[in-house]
Amino acid sequence: MDFDRVVDRRQSDSIKWNYYDEDVTPMWIADTDFESPPCVIEALHERVSHGIFGYAKVADSLYDVIIERKKQRFNWDVSKPQISFVPGIVTGFNLAIRAVCQPGDAVIYQTPAYPPFLSAPESGGFRSVHNEMIQQADGSYLIDFDSFERQIVDNRVKAFILCNPQNPTGRVFNRKELEQLAEICLRHHVVICSDEIHCDIVYHEHTHIPIASLSKEVSENTLTFIAPSKTYNIAGLHASVAIIQSEKLFTQFCRAREGIVGNPGLLALVAAEAAFRGGDDWLRQCIDYLTVNRDWLVENVPRLLPGVKMAKPQATFLGWLDCRETGLTNPQKFFLEKARIGFNEGSAFGSNGCGFVRLNFGTQMAILEDAVRRMSGALSVTRAC
Ligand SMILES: Cc1ncc(COP(=O)(O)O)c(C=O)c1O
Repeated sequence: MDFDRVVDRRQSDSIKWNYYDEDVTPMWIADTDFESPPCVIEALHERVSHGIFGYAKVADSLYDVIIERKKQRFNWDVSKPQISFVPGIVTGFNLAIRAVCQPGDAVIYQTPAYPPFLSAPESGGFRSVHNEMIQQADGSYLIDFDSFERQIVDNRVKAFILCNPQNPTGRVFNRKELEQLAEICLRHHVVICSDEIHCDIVYHEHTHIPIASLSKEVSENTLTFIAPSKTYNIAGLHASVAIIQSEKLFTQFCRAREGIVGNPGLLALVAAEAAFRGGDDWLRQCIDYLTVNRDWLVENVPRLLPGVKMAKPQATFLGWLDCRETGLTNPQKFFLEKARIGFNEGSAFGSNGCGFVRLNFGTQMAILEDAVRRMSGALSVTRAC
């Protein structure tokens, strides 16, 4: 697979490549600029050539590959009746909190957070409680367990939306951290909705642990969401999976979606199975490519962008750039106007994201290098003024 090959995405209805003006390099929304694995493209071609696209039944073989994969990759035992399909993880966790909370209950999440976490509680009629993570001197983040527990107690929190691996910080929470989170949630009867969409893009030195795999008790208190979308670059197809091991929570989840949210579309299911079954060789190469991009950024951001700090992501293709020491009041606006680079603005990830931008490095190295050099040029002109 040639990950250096640039494919024109502007003509492909890509939101990433059509949101900003044509001269802007987009490094915002989280899909990559890599063609999906050949096995996915072939499976879609084959299914399209059949020519009839009636209502789809989820194939047993798709359940089987998910079950095999969870066992092989994470030593997690999952069975068919515990699996449900949803057309997106955002849909999944919004349904999950509606399934487990009553009007007026509170939902907690850790910030900085993927922006749809911030809006999910209120759109369901619940209160929103954010637990700020603690930033270390090197830019990496730790969980503030004391305030997490205090906020749960003080606000009568009923659900916790966990993001692991974490977007935007790139943290992969370790066993001890997950155990501590799970234990606090169990003690205070808080259901865990675990968004694990990034679980397969984890760098070599780190290991993803599904929180539900910690123990039977934790699995009975958790709804987990996974998807092939980030891993194999098929986010636009909307195939996602809910794994719910408590019969009671499974029933509540089904009730919350009934008549409102159906399964992913036919082609999404085809692509998901092909990717899970045959995409892992491609995935290994993709992670190797992303590792080079990540390491290049970690080495060059401090050198080329004075005042910008970036911790080494342990997972994801997202860099969380702390621009507060540059003195820029709005770095997203600055880099858009002066360097023509389109980022996600940090404040969308919570108030502790002000002064940050999120950089998507899931692109060709040539595009990444050019973007950082343009940012560097823009910063040096500002300094000279
Ligand atoms: C943590 C996280 N959850 C969910 C999503 C989106 O999932 P979906 O497109 O399946 O709703 C993203 C996309 O960036 C994400 O980073």
